Amino acid sequence: MSDPTRIRVGEGGDSAYDVVIGHGLLGDLAGLLGSGVEQVLVIHSHALSPTGQAVRDHLAAQGFSTFIAEVPDGEEAKSAETAASLWGVLGQCGLTRSDAIVGVGGGTVTDLAGFVAATWLRGVTVVQVPTTLLAMVDAAVGGKTGINTAEGKNLVGAFHSPAGVLCDLAMLATLPAEELVSGMAEVIKCGFIADPAILDLVEADPQGVTQWDGPAVRELIERSILVKARVVTEDPRESSLREILNYGHTFAHAVEQVERYSWRHGAAVSVGMVYAAELARLAGRLDDTVVDRHRSVLAAVGLPTRYRGDRWVELYAAMRRDKKSRGSLLRFVVLDALAEPGRLEGPDESMLQAAYSGVSLD
Ligand SMILES: NC(=O)c1ccc[n+]([C@@H]2O[C@H](COP(=O)([O-])OP(=O)(O)OC[C@H]3O[C@@H](n4cnc5c(N)ncnc54)[C@H](O)[C@@H]3O)[C@@H](O)[C@H]2O)c1
Repeated sequence: MSDPTRIRVGEGGDSAYDVVIGHGLLGDLAGLLGSGVEQVLVIHSHALSPTGQAVRDHLAAQGFSTFIAEVPDGEEAKSAETAASLWGVLGQCGLTRSDAIVGVGGGTVTDLAGFVAATWLRGVTVVQVPTTLLAMVDAAVGGKTGINTAEGKNLVGAFHSPAGVLCDLAMLATLPAEELVSGMAEVIKCGFIADPAILDLVEADPQGVTQWDGPAVRELIERSILVKARVVTEDPRESSLREILNYGHTFAHAVEQVERYSWRHGAAVSVGMVYAAELARLAGRLDDTVVDRHRSVLAAVGLPTRYRGDRWVELYAAMRRDKKSRGSLLRFVVLDALAEPGRLEGPDESMLQAAYSGVSLD
């Protein structure tokens, strides 16, 4: 196996940290925790029980006092109830300000573990061990943490940078194929907004990139993390540039809401990117070749590029509620060319609806 790759996030800042990428990386975990840590709480989801236990055993063998807590799989983990139960565990363990939390799981677990770390004693160290492709390239990197409420997703949260992120590709071996494909939507997004070499790699071997051990998967993960690292280093608090990471997400969030979260996020982002490309084309900003490339590269890995055609009223209402819209104006990240993201503010409803026709099934 080749050496792990280290990507620095937040270069020069107080809260800079490394994302370590490679195979079989547990040996690097203790180093990411930093000095002075004596006790560690490992938080993992139900599906990751053996992995969570392996992480705990490894840390115990290194001399740490370890505790472990299991949380539900999926979005259920990101609830105030689960967070409160973890605060209870932390109190019972006596986890101090100089101790640490390790989150082992998909984006739901890294969001939850990060949020609990941000709030316990006003902030303790967290190291993230993402186990889905989406969490590796997106959720675990960048310091955004959060939980859901009955009113919506990610409404409660905090910015809290991890002390490190360990992307051990071996952990993807058990990930269901459809989760890997879903994560590939965020990888392809990074290709469109910043690094077209990603698109070339996917197009060269679309079957291979949907296997966790496919030859290009590590490079795709590294390139995507580099894109995210550069963006969040420049804009850690999502005041401007970071918005480009939401490419395709305004329409995607609307689809997710209309479908009551029965659609995978990556599938919704996939259609959302085609929608954003159609909008840019209609606004005279993007040529047909790049719009067509959205459809071909996403379809090649098995992601959807169309959505049912009878949901405009609901989708439009959901987009207007989206927290990314500013004031009463709807605001979209669009491309002016490959790797040239821009903003489209306040397009009129007829243009929005025309773009919807462009992604409609009927
Ligand atoms: N903080 C951020 O910047 C950010 C960015 C993007 C997404 N997110 C959040 O990430 C979440 C989605 O993350 P996700 O797509 O990883 O979903 P997830 O955490 O729900 O994981 C998907 C499913 O795969 C299972 N799983 C995870 N790893 C596995 C493995 N290695 N083997 C077998 N099963 C495994 C999980 O138990 C779950 O059932 C959302 O809540 C979203 O809001 C956060």
